[in-house]
This record gives sequence, C-alpha cells and structure tokens, in this order.
Amino acid sequence: MSRSAHPAGPRHADVLPEGHYSAPPADLNRLDEKVWSRTVARDADGVVTVGGIPVTTLAEEFGTPAYFLDEADFRARCRAWAEAFGEDADVFYAGKAFLSRAVVRWLKEEGLNLDVCSGGELTTALQAGMPAERIAFHGNNKSTHEIERAVEAGVGRIVLDSFQEIVRVAHVAQSLGKRQKVQIRVTVGVEAHTHEFIATAHEDQKFGLALAGGQAAEAVRRALRLDGLELIGIHSHIGSQIFDTSGFEVAAHRVVGLLKQVRDEHGVELPEIDLGGGLGIAYTSDDDPREPHEIAKALRDIVTRECEAAGLRTPRISVEPGRAIVGPTAFTLYEVGTVKPLAGLRTYVSVDGGMSDNIRTALYDAEYSVALVSRTSDAEPMLSRVVGKHCESGDIVVKDAFLPSDVAPGDLIAVPATGAYCRSMASNYNHVLRPPVVAVRDGEARVIVRRETEEDLLRLDVG
Ligand code: LLP
Repeated sequence: MSRSAHPAGPRHADVLPEGHYSAPPADLNRLDEKVWSRTVARDADGVVTVGGIPVTTLAEEFGTPAYFLDEADFRARCRAWAEAFGEDADVFYAGKAFLSRAVVRWLKEEGLNLDVCSGGELTTALQAGMPAERIAFHGNNKSTHEIERAVEAGVGRIVLDSFQEIVRVAHVAQSLGKRQKVQIRVTVGVEAHTHEFIATAHEDQKFGLALAGGQAAEAVRRALRLDGLELIGIHSHIGSQIFDTSGFEVAAHRVVGLLKQVRDEHGVELPEIDLGGGLGIAYTSDDDPREPHEIAKALRDIVTRECEAAGLRTPRISVEPGRAIVGPTAFTLYEVGTVKPLAGLRTYVSVDGGMSDNIRTALYDAEYSVALVSRTSDAEPMLSRVVGKHCESGDIVVKDAFLPSDVAPGDLIAVPATGAYCRSMASNYNHVLRPPVVAVRDGEARVIVRRETEEDLLRLDVG
C-alpha cells in the first residue's frame, strides 16, 4: 500500500481553486469535538475509537461502509433535551431522522416521546414497545388505513394537515367509538434560514394550513365542531438546520395570535403548542449549534412573553428534534478505494459507499467533514472531494475537505454527523447494499440494523 504523497494534488491554501471551504485546519489529526460524537477519540496508535473500540476493529468485524452510532451520546442527548424542557413540556424525537427498534427502546427509557409520519414508523414504534400515548402521528397525506391504525392503537395525538384529514380522522375515531386528540399544523409564513428544499413554513408548499388567509382558523372551527376530535393545540414546524431562534419567535408570535383568535371566537383556550423540530447541528467546524437548555429557555421565554401579551394562559410546549438528537451521534466509516489527483483542482477520493448511504450532499448541497481515522498522518493537507462508487458524477459525499496528502487505498476515513437523514434516506441505487447501523457503547458493539444482502434485493425482485 502506497503511503507516498500524490504529486499532482493541490496542497496549500494559496494554490487552492475556488470552492466552499475554509482554510485547512492546523492539525488534520485533531478531531473537532463539535462534529464527532462524545466518545470518539484517538488511541495511542493514532487509530480513532468510539465507545473505546478502534475503528479498525469495527471495520474488520462489521465491514465498510457502516454507520456507527454512539449509544451513550444518543442517550445523553435525549436526557439533555428532556431535562432542558422539564416536566411541563414534551420532547418528541422525530423518527424520520433515524428510527429502529433499538432507538425506540432508548427513547422510551430516556423519557422521550416519538413523532412518526408513516405506517412503517408507527409499526416500528409500537413493535418496540413505545406506549401509544407517547406517539404523535404526522404527515400531509396519511392514508385512511394509517389513520385507523393510529386511532386504534391510541396514539397521543394526530397532527392534522388538511381539511380532508380533519373529516377523515373524525370519522375514523367516531366509528371506533373514540375521541382522538389532535393538533392542527399551521404554516406561519416564516422561512427559516435553511436550504430551500427543506424549509417548510413559507406558504407555497404542501404542509399545513396557512394562518394568512384564514385557513388555519377555519380548520380550528371545523375541528371544534366534530365529536370524534379533541383539539388540543396548534403545531408549527418552520424548517431544518436552524441555528437561531428568531424564526421560532415569529412563529410563536403568529401561533399565539391564532390561540387568541380561537379564545375570542370560541371561548376556548387551546392547552398546547408544538413548535416542531429543525434545530441545527455542527456538520463542520464552522457550525455553532446551541445547547438544548439554551433553546428550551429561549422558546419558553418567547411563548410566555407572547401569551402574557395576549392575555392567555401559557400553553404546554412541545418540540420535535430529530437531527439535533441523532445527527451528531453517528459517523459513517468508509474504506478508500481509489485516489485520483486532478491537477490544479482537487483530489478525488473514492469510497465504498456514496450517495446511496448519504444523499444529503447531492440533494441539499449539504456540507460534511471527513477525517482519516485508521492512522494519523503528518503529510500536508490535500484538498479532497470524497466521492462514492455510483454511476453518477453528482455522487459526492463530502464536497470540499482536507485529507492528508498520503491518503491511500485501504485507509479508513470517516464522515461524522451522519446520524440523521442518512440511513433513513438510504437507497439501493445501482443495487448497492444499504450499510448496517452498529450501536457502540462501553467497549461493546452490536448491529441494530443489519447490512443489506444481495438476497434481500432478490427477495423483493419476484422475477
Ligand atoms: N417535526 C416535523 C413536523 C418535521 O417535518 C420534521 C422534519 C421534524 C420535526 C424534525 O426536524 P429535525 O429536527 O430533524 O430537523 N431530509 C432533510 C430534513 C427533512 C426534515 C423533514 N421534517 C435533511 O436531510 O436535511
């Protein structure tokens, strides 16, 4: 295996092509704790470890590519969110970020609730023993069958997303002899600072009922009239990867405006307000996310202030962080297969996965970090693009990052902060097999979602 530097790759900041990256870090061997999960470290041999286990051992045992999930970190984040919001608020983990039965059990043990948005997520949650009353059911087009299953199971709330759904849920509940707790999802006209595809609260999009124009108020009117529904509150989700709370401030102001309108019109003070998820995490050293206790305080202050101004009792607050809990807790481990320096541009480092295990770079232009983890290196920084093995030039995992210039086939590299929306959005493109998720804790590693096999692919292909 060659350890020599690649002669044609650009090295220094002064010869780098234009791109979206900062200067190379002073020490490429240093792992920035902002982007790596909490138990990640380098051992005396320079090998990165998680939960005390070297990645070289993990690669031997579980293969690559694979996601390694730091269970202690996941649990600590759950506890931090639960403690930050306290007894008079509810934290729902957004299962779309990553869901498995092990994760459901951890959530249950750490006192969190769960937001699901499909029959599949609901089944996973119930199968793993999450009490139905701790489940919120979301989605802009839930099928009648999904609604029946949710109501039958006794989910704690269904978040209504359209006029049709108000009637459907009411009908299902009544025919099952139940009264279903519901919230109405509203669009508040706030576009949080984020990528356009993942912003959800501006009006020209599919989710929720708009406050502007009175759709949301009309939805409340209709929901209050139906016996099968118990309207417990208003829901708003303003986007993803948000770092400051100013968007939530505007959202809370407008949602409280609706609560006031509802009180004035119907004499009802709705007891709950859900501000959704969307809190950002550090994908690179340039990102500065806020801690759960800061977010909790800011949201609580905003809602209390707005309610006091409107003369309303402060409702119970709930939030739905997905990415902020699971995102930082996992990294994807890859083996380098080829290294291709392009003179005057950058060096393409191909790994054994790609857009099938992380579509976010291609889809959202997401930024990630990367590190050589099977050894340290004193070679100079080399501007690199980490690409996958798919038949598509947009198959990029990390667009611009620095790796040591002696990175070579057989090295292990890892991309941190891939816990959210990577395995859950993984595909079989090119019939590439989806990687396993391995939970690591206190020196023990166990598969929680196994690697896909070619038999799995063929099982679906019925000939
Ligand atoms: N609540 C609702 C109603 C949501 O729609 C979402 C995310 C969340 C909570 C959780 O948001 P989080 O805290 O995880 O940002 N695939 C995209 C993100 C799509 C998010 C969709 N809804 C990505 O990879 O960035």
